[in-house]
Amino acid sequence: MSNPSQFLQSRTVSQPLYRRRRCSHMAAIAPIGPQLSQPSLSHPPPPKLTTVKALSESPGLSSIPSIYTFPKQPNHELVSDTKEPIPTIDFSLLISSNPDERSKTIRELGKACRDWGFFIVTNHGVPERMMKAMIEVCREFFELTEEEKGECEGKHVLDPIRYGTSFNPSVEKILYWRDYLKIFQHPSFHSPSNPPSLREIALEYSKRARGVMKEIVRGISESLGLEDKYIEKATNLENCLQIMIANLYPSCPQPELAMGLPAHSDHGLLTLLIQNDTVGLQVLHKDKWVNIHPIPNSFLANIGDHIEILSNGKYKSVLHRAVVNDRDVRISIALAHGPAADAAVSPAPMLLEDGQNPLAYRAMKYKEYVELQQSNKLDGKSCLEHIRNRGI
Ligand code: OGA
Ligand code: NI
Repeated sequence: MSNPSQFLQSRTVSQPLYRRRRCSHMAAIAPIGPQLSQPSLSHPPPPKLTTVKALSESPGLSSIPSIYTFPKQPNHELVSDTKEPIPTIDFSLLISSNPDERSKTIRELGKACRDWGFFIVTNHGVPERMMKAMIEVCREFFELTEEEKGECEGKHVLDPIRYGTSFNPSVEKILYWRDYLKIFQHPSFHSPSNPPSLREIALEYSKRARGVMKEIVRGISESLGLEDKYIEKATNLENCLQIMIANLYPSCPQPELAMGLPAHSDHGLLTLLIQNDTVGLQVLHKDKWVNIHPIPNSFLANIGDHIEILSNGKYKSVLHRAVVNDRDVRISIALAHGPAADAAVSPAPMLLEDGQNPLAYRAMKYKEYVELQQSNKLDGKSCLEHIRNRGI
């Protein structure tokens, strides 16, 4: 799409989460947030959007409303429980004072970015109890009443605290089986006031995770043949935009018809994900969707669009999605780390040498890039396509 304002047209600044009323048994279910106090007489407002959690807990639910039903996805057939294991990076070796250990790990990191775009991070030093506490406190958040959670309902995609359902219901014809809480953690820290312990746990966890992210980004920088601090400087990583996305995927009576999150790449540099012990994340690897099984006490890391931009396409952000199941509730917490909000990132000039590798992307302020992604349908790598340099 060539016209950015056209691409951004679906941005809704103050539109609440409404849905068209399609299914009679939805109406009785708790809405997000308080109802409008002054409905217009001529056009009564549609009922507020139902959360998937409330829907999944409605008694006797044996089929899902049509608004959650996707036409059968041919891609579902392509799932492979590959024997090829997803790469693991031992973080303690990445920060080792032994130069041989460190450079070997950097080579492995580069290979993981090239081959998979996803890797498991072990021995990262973030205490397991802190990771578990994060999952538990997010579970507690989702268990608050809809009215309590509704206080966190954001009005704009760049609001620092935003609770909602699906991805962007104002533009989606079919909704995703997912509720979420998004909180900006850095450069300024935000937290809902409820549950009260969320603030303290998230503050410490997000700080520790930033430390891990920074070392991995240094390793990625070196693996590209750049100075270790190149990416850090080019993105003003000191002021990185760090967003916590807590995802709740309730169990679903017809999981083969519903989708938790569609195929997408992440907008930032590096995402660090933790999850409870329920499988649901799938990664596109060699044209097949691969189930990623949760590994306790580790991060699942993936590179985002801004590493693809910085590396001029040498490392590619990878499509992933979340599927749902009919047994267990799944919770995942993604910590998305991007450049500073005002940084406009370009491919590293050193990676363009000798004209073999022409400039692949135009620069866009990160804040605008996030807004672009969050204001539209979540659709593969459409944002990256939007800034692809097609030459003259
Ligand atoms: C995300 C995401 C996957 C998951 O929040 O960007 O890809 O497993 N989540 O919840
Ligand atoms: Ni993602």
